[in-house]
Amino acid sequence: MTDWTAFEAAAARDADARIVDQFAADPDRVARMGVETAGLYLDLSKQAWTREGFETCLDLARSAGVEAARTRLFGGEAINATEGRAVLHPALRATKGSNYIALGEPVSAEVDAVRADMAAYATAVRSGSETGATGKPFKAIVHIGIGGSDLGPRVVWDALRPLEPSIDLRFVANIDPRDMAEALTGLDPETTLVVVVSKTFTTQETLANAEAAKAWLAAGLPEAGRDKHFIGVTAAPDKAVAFGCARTFAFRDWVGGRYSLWSAVSLSCVIALGPDVFEAMLAGAAAMDDHFVSAPLEKNAPVLLALAQIWNVDGLNRPARTVAPYAHALRRLPAFLQQLEMESNGKRVHRDGSAVTRQTCPVVFGEPGTNGQHAFFQQIHQGPQVVPAEFVIVAKTHEDAPESPLWSNALAQGQALMLGKTTEQARAELLASGADAAEADRLATHKTFPGNRPSTAIVMERLTPETLGALLALYEHKTFVEGVVWDINSFDQWGVELGKVLAKAILKDVAAGGPSAELDPSTAGLLTRLLG
Ligand code: F6P
Repeated sequence: MTDWTAFEAAAARDADARIVDQFAADPDRVARMGVETAGLYLDLSKQAWTREGFETCLDLARSAGVEAARTRLFGGEAINATEGRAVLHPALRATKGSNYIALGEPVSAEVDAVRADMAAYATAVRSGSETGATGKPFKAIVHIGIGGSDLGPRVVWDALRPLEPSIDLRFVANIDPRDMAEALTGLDPETTLVVVVSKTFTTQETLANAEAAKAWLAAGLPEAGRDKHFIGVTAAPDKAVAFGCARTFAFRDWVGGRYSLWSAVSLSCVIALGPDVFEAMLAGAAAMDDHFVSAPLEKNAPVLLALAQIWNVDGLNRPARTVAPYAHALRRLPAFLQQLEMESNGKRVHRDGSAVTRQTCPVVFGEPGTNGQHAFFQQIHQGPQVVPAEFVIVAKTHEDAPESPLWSNALAQGQALMLGKTTEQARAELLASGADAAEADRLATHKTFPGNRPSTAIVMERLTPETLGALLALYEHKTFVEGVVWDINSFDQWGVELGKVLAKAILKDVAAGGPSAELDPSTAGLLTRLLG
């Protein structure tokens, strides 16, 4: 188990250090705390650690066995011990002809075959040689899935979609029929492909939506050839076939839901964006894998990003983090990270089942810049809790560089958070703008910014399939490193189970027309009220 003694001492020592003072104390700070790899540049020099604190974090990673754990991950060992599974999403994006092994079983040939199958099918749909039941080419895809079977492909589509796609792609996740109704609006069953994505093919929301889509297709299409409109993507192909998917694309149980966007889970994107775009994204992720495996810890991007978070959460007691992508195309990144990080590391027991004694995953939230600035950034700047920020910056968000690039706002936010503004400065500004002394005194504390608030910048020149792949893989490995240091299993998600079971019991009460005797008074009251 991780030894936190030196880390705690360093965090106590650094607690009152000012970030802005550290640049003079360590003239190499920006270079020391910067990493460039796979088309991304990370600047961690605005984190609230001194050089010594930073070095202590690296020691923490070493002592926690990050390097050995990384070898076990890439070696396909059963690192998801509570489910007895390997965790091998890097195998999905490896160069063709690789030799990945999951629990002793070679998997790369199968991965390559599914990739080739997807590419062939996508090409056929895109060219119009694969048609629907009435011979018309497909013009739209409805992707049905939830959680990991939704969020990854959604990020990818938003990030890379052309403004006027030749094949439109719509997503349905929510069991609320409104979601499906919105997605189907304006679509013609004759030219619509429904892709049902579920690792387990048992998820209630997805199956309910798939039934609705099936009924919609049945109402608008002849029976002959209708099955060409209804595709399954799953790790349980027998269940998908039983459900009515004549054609399925499979992946294995060593692909975790929130790590599955590199698999057939992204079939809809492969079709709508084209196989070449998908392959380029895989190549970007593979470049990040190579970096993660080979770079020394002190220059390892996922490791440094993880250590910054651990420093904030466990060292400085900051249990939240905001992520602000400064590119509209990355607007779903915060939602993707919420699942990736909070489902992976929102855990309260160690790998051996003993209770954790420290904080694990922080609350992750965010909005694209600059929208978030005009909403919750007030609290980030002046609230009493310190919320570390992460700015994902795209240098060129348009073909023509605008005069006031979006990224200028990200730089300003990072600066403002670090520098702040003293009450004296605020007072002087008020006086300079014509306020009298009494007015300046009255307003100065309201206009004071404490500063010394940490942030990280992740910069890419352009949002391309390659940089997107690298970015998402960076966050995956960061999440893994945190799990190793916290000594938790990042790859199970038992915490979602209880609610699923109780939802079934509540549905029984709904069918019975009233609460069962064992229901607690609050829930019984709500149920009665909602039944009307
Ligand atoms: O309920 C949580 C979860 O199991 C996620 O981990 C998963 O990504 C999501 O549900 C969807 O699961 P499935 O792909 O099996 O439908």
